[in-house]
Amino acid sequence: MQQANVLTGKAAIELNHVSYSDEGLDIIKDVSGSLPEGKITTFVGPSGAGKTTIFRLLNGLISPTKGDIQLFGENIQTIEPTTLRRTVGIALQDATMLRGSVYKNLAMPKTLQNQELKKEEAEHLLTQVGLDASFLHRDVTDLSGGQRQKVSIARTLVNHPKVLLLDEITSSLDRVSTSDIEHLIQHINKEFAVTIAWITHNLDQALLIGDYTWVMMNGELIESGSTDVLKNPVNPRIQEFVKGEWQ
Ligand SMILES: Nc1ncnc2c1ncn2[C@@H]1O[C@H](COP(=O)(O)OP(=O)(O)OP(=O)(O)O)[C@@H](O)[C@H]1O
Ligand SMILES: [Mg+2]
Repeated sequence: MQQANVLTGKAAIELNHVSYSDEGLDIIKDVSGSLPEGKITTFVGPSGAGKTTIFRLLNGLISPTKGDIQLFGENIQTIEPTTLRRTVGIALQDATMLRGSVYKNLAMPKTLQNQELKKEEAEHLLTQVGLDASFLHRDVTDLSGGQRQKVSIARTLVNHPKVLLLDEITSSLDRVSTSDIEHLIQHINKEFAVTIAWITHNLDQALLIGDYTWVMMNGELIESGSTDVLKNPVNPRIQEFVKGEWQ
């Protein structure tokens, strides 16, 4: 495995020889690498490469079969689950919502902790993602795909996460909404120094928004480093993957 040293500063997350197997199937195979703090790292690779599984490991939905994951130097196995989920937020492609108002959805992370989300706080969250306060009482079923994704992102901000995992959040959006969301994430990254991990099938997007990239295939981390690796790959497996994606 060729692995460039991507760390110019601290790692927000570090994986040490992480493997994950389920029912005798090796899904993640001896992955070691890190997500630099305050940067945007994109995850690319063919379908079934194990990208989403890595995210599930990172927010504690599943645990490594071998190896360990450090979050700011602390083994995530020893972090209390609610603290871990507050620190590592996740947004998914389908932006799963509860039936009802935007407010109800924004309040969900608080409701789960038996706390209340103040109306002013909810309005503030909406402005942070470029939606005005009038959205608060809109029904989520009436929102466009892009607006829905913004609400989903606002919801992840309720707990002030230090790390945000984004799993193909723009893959069902048109170009304008995609670009809107890209700017929004870049803003969140810079403004709140949130470390971002972003799975994307769009290599142009990876080049545009990513500081670093992880190329995954067949459960392995093939290479990690500057996104330039996608422009002029040396590794023949990456060359082949990139050629297929850009044709
Ligand atoms: N709970 C599970 N049980 C068995 N196999 C699983 C489980 N979860 C994932 N897999 C398998 O592990 C592999 C990696 O899946 P994963 O969803 O992580 O890939 P991915 O890179 O996110 O793919 P995509 O780009 O299609 O979303 C796949 O072959 C998948 O079928
Ligand atoms: Mg996936």
